[in-house]
Amino acid sequence: MGSVFESIKRRRSVREFGPRAIENGKLHIILESARLAPSSSNSQTWHFIVVRRPETITGLAEAVPFGPRSVNRWIESAPLIIAACAKPEPILHRMGQIVDKDYHRIDVAIAVEHMVLTATDLGVDSCIVGWFSRRKAKRILKLPASMEVVLLLILGYRREQYQLPARQRRKLKDIVSFESYGTQEGAEEEGHPKDERLQQKPDADR
Ligand SMILES: Cc1cc2nc3c(=O)[nH]c(=O)nc-3n(C[C@H](O)[C@H](O)[C@H](O)COP(=O)(O)O)c2cc1C
Repeated sequence: MGSVFESIKRRRSVREFGPRAIENGKLHIILESARLAPSSSNSQTWHFIVVRRPETITGLAEAVPFGPRSVNRWIESAPLIIAACAKPEPILHRMGQIVDKDYHRIDVAIAVEHMVLTATDLGVDSCIVGWFSRRKAKRILKLPASMEVVLLLILGYRREQYQLPARQRRKLKDIVSFESYGTQEGAEEEGHPKDERLQQKPDADR
C-alpha cells in the first residue's frame, strides 16, 4: 500500500468504466475505511448501501433533480455504487444547528473521502456524485423517512483508453492565508517542508 499523499495525488474523478467487477475483498476494505472515519461526537450516524443491480444503478443514474436525464448517464457504466446515507441523531443535529453545521452530512462526506482514497490505493477508480434528487434516490433505495442519501460514490475500473481531462487547481497561495484572511506573511518559513514527498510537485503543475 502506498502513502495517503500518493493516493491523493493519483486520485481523479473517472466517469467511464469497463465491465470488471469490484472484488469482494477490495469492497470490504473500502467499506472498512468508512467505518473507521471520524464523526461528530463519534455518532457514526451513517449507513452505506452497496448497489450492484443494474436496474438500481440505472435508476440512480436517472434520478436527476431536473433537466435531461442524460447528464449523469455515465454512471450506468459503473459496476457498483455505494450510496452514502445519514440518519441524523436529533440532539446532535440540534447542537450542530447552533454552530451552523450539518454534522451528519459532514461526517458522511469525510467517510466517503476515506473510501475514495482507499479505493485509489487499491487501484479502484471512483467519482463522488452529489447531483441527484434526494427524494428520488430515497425512494429507489427504500430509505426510511428519517434518513437521507447524502452522496453517491461511483466505483469501478476505468475503461481502457479513458482520457482524463487536465487537472485544474487553484494555486496554494490563492487558497491559504497565515494567521488571518489574506495575510501571506509567514508563507516563506512554512512553505518548504523537509518531507521529500511534499517537495514533489503535484500532477497539475507537472
Ligand atoms: C461533493 C461532490 C459532488 C460531486 N458531484 C458530481 C456529480 O454530480 N457529477 C459528476 O460528474 N461529478 C461530481 N463530482 C466530481 C467533481 O466534478 C470533481 O471532483 C472535480 O471536477 C475535480 O476533478 P477531479 O476529481 O478529477 O480532481 C462531485 C465531487 C464532489 C466532491
